[in-house]
This record gives sequence, structure tokens and C-alpha cells, in this order.
Amino acid sequence: MSTTTILVMNGPNLSRLGKREPEIYGRSTLEDINKGLVEAFPDIGFGFFQSEDEGDLLLKLFEIEDHGGWSGVVLNAGALTHYSIALRDAISAVKVPVVEVHLSNIYAREEFRRKSVISEVCLGVISGFGAESYHLGVRGLLSYLATRPVS
Ligand code: DQA
Repeated sequence: MSTTTILVMNGPNLSRLGKREPEIYGRSTLEDINKGLVEAFPDIGFGFFQSEDEGDLLLKLFEIEDHGGWSGVVLNAGALTHYSIALRDAISAVKVPVVEVHLSNIYAREEFRRKSVISEVCLGVISGFGAESYHLGVRGLLSYLATRPVS
């Protein structure tokens, strides 16, 4: 059986985790979160990608579409979640399943965060569990991959 591979993608400002508004996002750095995933899911082949740039995230999705290599994506798009139609269109344009995750509960925050323009084109959404959101996103993705009909 081939290894399941998951690319964990993070958008703008998530490189600042640990230092950035810890009362909202917690004290774990992105590196801590990534390490925690590798430890919690030893059988999964993880990759990690973060960029402050919207275009980089789009190009990474297109690379996956064109060259394969990843069973699924767990994505925290940061603020792009709320306004990037370009990111939404890119997710829509690729076949790889994408799970949207957020550290904070975006529905319990400022009005402008309560709308995600990417949720409709994602497999599912996890929001509000801190670093655990990434773990729950991986679990959701694994359960989908294990049960989805063979195409
Ligand atoms: C976030 C929520 C977004 O509103 C915010 O812009 C982020 C982080 C979260 O993980 O809670 O950068 O995606």
C-alpha cells in the first residue's frame, strides 16, 4: 500500500505564530505545530509550505494538480480566507481535496472574519481548536481518503 501524503499549507502571517497575538493564536510556533503533526501521525508523509504571498499558494496548488504527489491538503489560508476569490478559484480548479482549518473560531470574532470565501470549495472546515485544528483537519482528511469512492 502506498503512503498517504498530506501537504500542510499556511498563508500570510502564520509564520509569526508564537509571537503573534498569543492570546488569540496561542504560543506554539508553526514549527511546533508541524512537529506535533509528524509525531501524532507517524505513518503519514507530511510536507509543509508557508507563504506570505497569495500567488505562491496558487502556484503550489497548480504544482500538485500537474505533478501529483499529495493525497490531500490541510490549509490555513489566514486572512486570504475572507477575501481571496483567486484562492477559492484555484482550490476549485484542482482535484486534490483541501480541508480548511483555523486556529481561532472565525465565527466568534470580528464580522469580517465570519465569512470564508473558500469554505464552499473545501472538503470541510475546522475552526477554533488552536493547534488541534490541524490535527482534526488531518483526521477528517484521512477519513475521507479511506472512504471516498474510487474514481
Ligand atoms: C486564522 C483566522 C484569520 O481570520 C486570520 O486572518 C489568520 C489566522 C486562524 O487560524 O484563526 O491569519 O486563519
